[in-house]
Amino acid sequence: MEKELLISKEEIQKRVEELAEQISTDYRGQEPIVIGVLKGVIFFFADLVRKTTLSTQIDFIRAASYGSGTTSKGEIRITKNVEVPVAGKPVILVEDIVDTGATLTHIIENLEQKGVASLRVCTLLDKVERREKKVRIDYAGFEVEEGFVVGYGLDYNEKYRHLPDIYILRDDMS
Ligand code: IMP
Repeated sequence: MEKELLISKEEIQKRVEELAEQISTDYRGQEPIVIGVLKGVIFFFADLVRKTTLSTQIDFIRAASYGSGTTSKGEIRITKNVEVPVAGKPVILVEDIVDTGATLTHIIENLEQKGVASLRVCTLLDKVERREKKVRIDYAGFEVEEGFVVGYGLDYNEKYRHLPDIYILRDDMS
């Protein structure tokens, strides 16, 4: 696998600042609970939350998809749920990347069942063209084309998460 630079750390930080500014304006006077979807979101989440001017509470949620045999996307299950009470609270859900939308749809249902007052979604990367489940994204950092991206928290078989920039993986042969 070869990797090619897609989004530099400077571009990422600039965009994260813009998103944080927008969120700070939209939630002025409120104390939202910001929930990150583990593990890919860690660096984006840390940068975003620290750049907002809001008094926030933070928590994390984790989902895993279990494929069977040849099916790549199987059943999605929550493997770590939120721990702070979210009922009646404004919640911002933060994702690293939205692909088909299946994971996000499942997590949104889970949070809505807990009676959140409002729920908005913020994702660093949006693979719009691959969407299968209709899901509303309120804040998106960058739109990306089809292809597999890594770095800044995103992995390929747990590799590349530590890289500060975002890369696209390419087959050596292509
Ligand atoms: P979805 O359920 O198809 O929307 O997939 C969302 C999850 O798949 C993300 O939270 C990532 O963990 C993973 N994912 C999808 N595309 C990529 C990618 O290009 N790089 C790394 N992870 C990805």
